[in-house]
Parts: sequence; C-alpha cells; structure tokens
Amino acid sequence: MALSTFTFLSSTLLNALLVRAAPVLETRQSFTTLSSSQIAAFEPFTFYASSAYCPSSQTMTWSCGANCEANPTFQPVASGGDGSTVQFWYVGFDPTLATVIVGHQGTDPSKLMPLITDADFFLDPLNQTFFPGIDSKIEVHNGFAEEHAKTATDVLAAVKTALTESGLNRVTIVGHSLGAALAVLDGVYLPLNIPNVNFRTIGYGMPRVGNQAFADYVDANVQLTRITNKNDVVPILPGRFLGFHHPSGENHIQADNSWVSCPGQDNTDGRCSTGDVHTILGGSVKDHSGPYDTVTIGC
Ligand SMILES: *[C@@H]1O[C@H](CO)[C@@H](O)[C@H](O)[C@H]1NC(C)=O
Repeated sequence: MALSTFTFLSSTLLNALLVRAAPVLETRQSFTTLSSSQIAAFEPFTFYASSAYCPSSQTMTWSCGANCEANPTFQPVASGGDGSTVQFWYVGFDPTLATVIVGHQGTDPSKLMPLITDADFFLDPLNQTFFPGIDSKIEVHNGFAEEHAKTATDVLAAVKTALTESGLNRVTIVGHSLGAALAVLDGVYLPLNIPNVNFRTIGYGMPRVGNQAFADYVDANVQLTRITNKNDVVPILPGRFLGFHHPSGENHIQADNSWVSCPGQDNTDGRCSTGDVHTILGGSVKDHSGPYDTVTIGC
C-alpha cells in the first residue's frame, strides 16, 4: 500500500516534472534560421513600415517614391499626423497581399531615447476607454500609451472603412521603432474594438513596451513578429530591471545577415537581441534603421 502510494506519487511528480520540462526542451530546440524565401516574404511589409515615415499628404496619394512604388497596388483610405507632435500614420489595403495595412511612423533614436529613458516615464495600466475589459495588471510605458491615444480613434475608424471598402478580413499593422511600439499597441487595441477579423503585427526595432503581463497578453492574443537588427540598441530599452519584458515572436538579424527565429519571450541567447546586445554602450544606433534584408527604413 505504502509502496504503491509512493509509486503513484512519484509517477505523478515525474509527470509534473516532464510536463514542466517539455516546453523548456522545445524552447531550446526551436531556434530556426529563416530561408531566403521566408526573409523575402517580409520585404513588402518592411517597405510599408518605411513608407510610414513619409508625410501623410504623400501616403494619402501613395506618391512617396521608392517606398510606395515597392507596393504598387496599395489603395490608401486615410492618413494623419504631422510628423512632430503626432507621428504620421496611414491606413489602406493591398489587394495583392489581401490585407488591410496600418502603418505607424517611428522616430530617430535621438528623439526616441529621451522618450524611453525619460525620468518621467512609468508603467501604467491601459486606458479602459480604448482597451475595454483589459486586465489592470497589464501595464505599458505611459509615453507610448499617450502617443497611441493621439491617433487611436482615427485609426480605428479608418480600419473599419478599409475593411468595408476592400471586402477583406485581414489587417496587418506595421511600424519601426516608436512606430513598432504603436503597432503592437494597435495589435492589442484594434481586435478589442473590431471582432472577427484576423490581425497580424510586424514590428521592426521595437523597444520594450510593457510588463510581463503585457508580454503574456500579447503572446496569447496578438500574432506578432518583431524583427531586431544586429546590435540595434532600441530593442534592449527600457531595461528589464525596470519591469519591462518583450513578448515572443522575435526574428533576430545576425552579423552575417542571416535571420534567426528566437523562441520565447525576451530570449537571452546570444542569437537574439537581448543576449546579443548586453549594454546600451555595446549597442548601435546605426543598426536601428537596418538594413532589414534589402530595406533601410526611412522616407
Ligand atoms: C482615457 O481616455 C479618455 C479618452 O481620451 C480620457 O478622457 C480619460 O481621461 C483617460 N483615462 C485615463 C485614466 O487616463
């Protein structure tokens, strides 16, 4: 009796340990190097992220030069921002890729770094007006949330119009730098306000946006890919010691230009941004703009 109880307990314990061990094993095994066709599939979206740096007058007429010409079938629906107090944004749809596109402008590191490292910033719960029903334990950088709030209502209305005009059921949200932070916030915000549509978010050089609860929410609810380039310093900011944590979905561009898919959140392996770029001083500002494969971000 005692023996069988012991056997039962130990096998239960063993099962529990195995169940716990399995994801770790999987995590270790699931680094993958992207094929050239997998990398090339990001190129149109990288141009879309780059187009978001162009003035709203140009994205509204899709006349922003090489960035716009890279996606020639795009149909603009709305655009806004002034490029200084409000980041540029645009919404439209791409019949070739069969998706509505939302683009958010980023900012150069000289302007982003003060925002990220500003002594006034703190982690704040998401505003229930924009994020109805979201758990108050989910906290994000207040500076990013304030930037997001400036355009949220207009972007939401434009996405609804674009879905109706195009007849599509898919939305891809892109951005670089601060624009990537805005894109992942939209990746949380838009589905809460537009049900039954497929959303995907692709962020380039994305800073840390929120806390562990935010990262967990994003993992469970947002189809996110975040692409980090070599020694770019922005993705390691704000620091983890301040309570910030990256969600999963990283593709890290290596020194030899190969792309490695990093499993898990904020992976500290040397093949991923957090492990590759240890300190702000070891980081590069130049690598922030790319190139992301063939595309260097900027209008
Ligand atoms: C949430 O956003 C609304 C609309 O912009 C604003 O009126 C309200 O003050 C915000 N609430 C908080 C707690 O910031």
